[in-house]
Amino acid sequence: MKKLFENNRRWAAAITKDNPQFFETLSRQQNPDFLWIGCSDSRVPANQITGLLPGEVFVHRNVANLVIHTDLNCLSVIQYAVDVLQVKHIIVCGHYGCGGVETAISQRPSGLIDNWLRHIKDLYHRNLSRFSDCKDQRTRIDRLCELNVIEQVNNVCHTSTVQDAWSRGQSLQVHGWIYGITDGLLKDLEVTFDSQDQVPDVYR
Ligand code: CO
Repeated sequence: MKKLFENNRRWAAAITKDNPQFFETLSRQQNPDFLWIGCSDSRVPANQITGLLPGEVFVHRNVANLVIHTDLNCLSVIQYAVDVLQVKHIIVCGHYGCGGVETAISQRPSGLIDNWLRHIKDLYHRNLSRFSDCKDQRTRIDRLCELNVIEQVNNVCHTSTVQDAWSRGQSLQVHGWIYGITDGLLKDLEVTFDSQDQVPDVYR
């Protein structure tokens, strides 16, 4: 634990050396343009992989980057980011080799988390035909990781918060990205939404 505090003091000193007003300015307000919804996986830290400083990205992470309609935690983060911070972009970022996705289709019990991962099982089951040509489990998992990002982008777009923002003409884009743990690179899955026109009637 001592090491973490040492690291912290070194980090704060380095930032202050570069910009003596950095923390003073940030303490007055945060004004991020981005909301990041990502996996809790320790290898996918939002700020580091996008090169963003404190104050530049609002972050929500959970196992397998899920956006569930009844998850008050995630919904509250989205509401605060959109209504109060007025972020311009919501990024749902998954990653290849996601342990949550892998566990969801592993057919072995993992306890409490199986209830959370049930959302991914449902997604997999509903789209079984898309996996018929997968030659191995790795390919299947990675394809499901991508599909899961797209599903969660849709879920973000269907929230009342995002619907209301679009209704009142607020500029807001929702993106789906995936991160490669083996090469450190982000890929845009090109499922960007920026208006109600792209959403099925029933969700408007
Ligand atoms: Co993961």
